[in-house]
Amino acid sequence: MACHFSSSNALITFLVLFATIVHDQHTTEALPLSTNSRWIVDDAKGGSERVKLSCVNWVSHLEVVVAEGLHKQPLDVISTKILEMGFNCVRLTYPLFLFTNSSLGSVTVRQSLKKLGLVESIAGFQANNPSIIDLPLLKAFQEVVASLERNNVMVILDNQISKPGWCCSDFDGNGFFGDQYFDPNVWLQGLTKVATMFNNSTHVVGMSLRNELRGPRQNVSVWYRYMQMGAEAIHAANPNVLVILSGLSYDKDLSFLQTRPISLSFCNKLVFEIHWYGFSDGEDWKTGNPNQVCGRVVDTITKRSGFLLDKGYPLFISEWGVDQRGTNENDNRYLNCFLAWAANYDLDWALWTLGGSYYFREGVIGMEEFYGALNWGWCEPRNSSLLDKISAIQSPFQGPGLSKTRPHKIIFHPATGLCVQRLSLFKPLTLGPCSEAESWDYTPKKTLTIKGTYYCLQADKVGKPAKLNIICTDNSSIWEPISASKLHLSSKINNGTVVCLDIDSQNTIVTNTCKCLASDNMCDPASQWFIVINSTTGSGAAQPYSRIGSIFQAIEGNLLG
Ligand SMILES: *[C@@H]1O[C@H](CO)[C@@H](O)[C@H](O)[C@H]1NC(C)=O
Ligand SMILES: *[C@@H]1O[C@H](CO)[C@@H](O)[C@H](O)[C@H]1NC(C)=O
Ligand SMILES: *[C@@H]1O[C@H](CO)[C@@H](O)[C@H](O)[C@H]1NC(C)=O
Ligand SMILES: *[C@@H]1O[C@H](CO)[C@@H](O)[C@H](O)[C@H]1NC(C)=O
Ligand SMILES: *[C@@H]1O[C@H](CO)[C@@H](O)[C@H](O)[C@H]1NC(C)=O
Repeated sequence: MACHFSSSNALITFLVLFATIVHDQHTTEALPLSTNSRWIVDDAKGGSERVKLSCVNWVSHLEVVVAEGLHKQPLDVISTKILEMGFNCVRLTYPLFLFTNSSLGSVTVRQSLKKLGLVESIAGFQANNPSIIDLPLLKAFQEVVASLERNNVMVILDNQISKPGWCCSDFDGNGFFGDQYFDPNVWLQGLTKVATMFNNSTHVVGMSLRNELRGPRQNVSVWYRYMQMGAEAIHAANPNVLVILSGLSYDKDLSFLQTRPISLSFCNKLVFEIHWYGFSDGEDWKTGNPNQVCGRVVDTITKRSGFLLDKGYPLFISEWGVDQRGTNENDNRYLNCFLAWAANYDLDWALWTLGGSYYFREGVIGMEEFYGALNWGWCEPRNSSLLDKISAIQSPFQGPGLSKTRPHKIIFHPATGLCVQRLSLFKPLTLGPCSEAESWDYTPKKTLTIKGTYYCLQADKVGKPAKLNIICTDNSSIWEPISASKLHLSSKINNGTVVCLDIDSQNTIVTNTCKCLASDNMCDPASQWFIVINSTTGSGAAQPYSRIGSIFQAIEGNLLG
């Protein structure tokens, strides 16, 4: 398949140039990373600055034991695409035995593909990555890390499984310490080997100890024993990396840390990770009312892992994602709730997954991956509008060293991934990029006022644009988060009618009758989902020319070096 990004017109070229410039400014992290309370920070001179991990998973743990996609595109091309899609980091998965079984590590890529009968993959690999195809598997893995490093992409090495293959099930022998393929001593040796091998790789910023612990053997006291040993082993071999600990029950449960903290000999390197998918709750999103499901699921997550933020630990959502065709209603509803939650807490995360297809997965040659950000040929984004939608959470809203503006609120609309924006006082409020969101105060009286002005948000009539007014005392200027999800912003107009903030077909901010607040499972309320979140970044957008201004500043900054 021929693969070209089209960039034929000048505007696109300009935007690409602009994105590249902004991008360069964003990725000059002063590595290594460490933690400062719940934030991940770098080592910048004059104090630490938050680095938001906006990662994508890159699968490298299946039977072939090579990073996927190298039969479709040259390695550096894929690394570049990762950046172009707005990610700054890869969670690169590996099977433990790559590092602990030297005869596996020394099999060449060609031999590994050949053994599985992947003739077409060999041809594609030969054409796209001739310098890698005859390398031993271990060396090929290092080449992938080196390419990411060369392209300024941070890397988190994730021990996905022991025995190469698709993960995970309760009875696959890889689930918990003591399972058939999960000898704790072999695992500790493997972690030490990986940590040592990448000790001097500046862009390897973190190591996940083990993916999705699970199965009949899982046990809290055993978790403490081995996770502490694993964390210490990594830190001893490589004091630079973040040490990332996963929970029980497929990385959904860290609730035991509520009462019993983990004790480690080192500080400022510990991060916890969890996974959250739509299918984590079966078909609940589709069969239930989205407000009720979102409220319930977020509540459960808070109890099982979200509380760690309050305890001062970073929480890394190392797997989440959706069927990117947009045809899975369960996933679509979950995604809006996920985005509201991830934006509200300004979390670090890794999307599942990068690749649009696999060499060989679960017995199928060339299986397509509809959760993949790239398409089947690894040449273009599978769904660029979906990438646009998630781009709001790729940049940080707040955190140490990021106080570009005074603390304020922005109003995020997860269904579009946009924020409430004011273009001028004479135009209705609309939606725009969150980097240009209007700055608000959310007062104790529950009015939403534009920062530095007397203007407050006011409901007018059903189906009409919300207004800005300077008389902010009546009920129509009071905004309550309602429903189980707390994601509807409601107000009352003159005669006491309850309305909810909504958007019309032009993305104008209007008020409408509140949609399916409860019970109804046939209706999706997401157009009415808004969340008021904390921010100390963004332009504030009060000045109509700030957007252009910042483009020129960025260009100027780049030219002047
Ligand atoms: C080590 O790897 C080789 C080559 O893939 C394989 O034949 C062998 O079974 C592996 N040994 C163990 C103990 O997994
Ligand atoms: C990493 O660099 C240090 C100092 O530059 C060196 O002593 C050490 O051997 C290197 N480690 C590895 C694994 O290459
Ligand atoms: C967990 O393992 C410990 C010993 O390693 C054992 O005493 C305890 O009974 C186990 N708990 C469960 C629930 O299996
Ligand atoms: C790892 O790198 C650090 C410097 O970044 C060095 O001090 C340490 O000795 C290295 N450890 C090993 C095991 O190479
Ligand atoms: C992209 O995803 C959206 C839903 O987020 C969907 O409506 C659209 O059809 C998808 N586009 C493609 C090309 O799959």
